[in-house]
Amino acid sequence: MSSVDRVQKALVVDAPKTPFVLKTVPIPKPGPGEVLVKIIASGLNPIDWILQTRDPPVMNTTYPAIFGFEGAGDVEEVGENVENFSKGDRVFFRSKSNHNEYSGFQQYALAPTEFLGKIPNDLSHAQAASVSLTFTTAVYGLLPADPIGAGLNPTFDDKVKFPGEAALVVGGSSSVGQYAIQILRYAGFGTIIAYASSKHAGFLKSLGATHVIDRTEVPFADLPGALHKIYPHPVKTIYSAITSVEAQDAAYASLSSDGKLIVATIQPVPRDGPDAAGRKVYGVIGTPYTPVNRSFGLLLWKHLPKLLQQGVIQPNRIEEIPNGLLGVVDGLKKLEHGEVSGVKLVVFPQQS
Ligand SMILES: NC(=O)c1ccc[n+]([C@@H]2O[C@H](COP(=O)([O-])OP(=O)(O)OC[C@H]3O[C@@H](n4cnc5c(N)ncnc54)[C@H](OP(=O)(O)O)[C@@H]3O)[C@@H](O)[C@H]2O)c1
Repeated sequence: MSSVDRVQKALVVDAPKTPFVLKTVPIPKPGPGEVLVKIIASGLNPIDWILQTRDPPVMNTTYPAIFGFEGAGDVEEVGENVENFSKGDRVFFRSKSNHNEYSGFQQYALAPTEFLGKIPNDLSHAQAASVSLTFTTAVYGLLPADPIGAGLNPTFDDKVKFPGEAALVVGGSSSVGQYAIQILRYAGFGTIIAYASSKHAGFLKSLGATHVIDRTEVPFADLPGALHKIYPHPVKTIYSAITSVEAQDAAYASLSSDGKLIVATIQPVPRDGPDAAGRKVYGVIGTPYTPVNRSFGLLLWKHLPKLLQQGVIQPNRIEEIPNGLLGVVDGLKKLEHGEVSGVKLVVFPQQS
């Protein structure tokens, strides 16, 4: 890249609740410990349409804003003090929120190498782009110790297993839910029950689910009973990738008196009933960039590329959205209207 073409296309939101606009913006320079990534594929997430349509937004947002929280591409330029990455490496990254230079919906972004991974040879950029935010949201709820998560395996110790225990994943076919199932398989749970449409049963079993409760047959109100029929013992670990009040209530009612409910939202429904002392609810913020999440994040990014390479974790199935960055607009409409089932939507910024 010469100094004359240090500009790129980016999908910009100028002010709260205004449309996405394709603009030309500068390509940033990587600082110490950072690389510049030429983004080949960017993953779409519900938070992207939530941020674009809400005022005030649900997270700190400075305008004009560029969204997109996970991506994959090729290292274009290396900053000072970078040792383990070189130009041309295929990499995937979790974007830093509210910092436009690090966002996914543009053609080039910065990424700190401490939270950057090399893509295993047998995975495509699009597959790798499905991992970072979504996997992070599942893993922070399950593996790190209290107060961040359920503390199942804070050090990625391969010997820590829970063969005698059961776990439930509400929304098993969602992108986050698919990773929660695989993390529970990695943690050696003997019984992993997914609450999802039965059309996904075979796929979810290939990821580690031992049973699927069909959400089209069993309403939330009947979930505790359906769970008890499959596993008539206390269920101490429940991950809800569905954040509605109904889903959280059903998950909470399914939990053992000393159990842990993890909900894929920063602010789960508060529980202050008489039995709340024993049960604990965790809200997840799926990022390594907040101070409390940082040390687990450093460990996570050491292990994540290996877990992908070894096939312990499989990326989501992908639906490729055409039309470069403008494809984000169509893709987010599908997410907003609940038209995405069992796949991750990915756009290709270089096609803009
Ligand atoms: N806190 C954080 O940092 C963070 C980060 C990422 C995501 N999230 C949140 O996590 C949630 C999941 O995100 P995602 O990207 O994984 O979503 P997604 O893949 O777009 O979710 C779509 C899936 O949800 C399933 N679903 C919808 N309603 C359901 C219900 N009533 N019961 C069971 N399954 C249901 C659908 O299942 P079927 O196919 O079976 O119909 C579909 O497969 C969202 O609320 C998102 O905002 C939070």
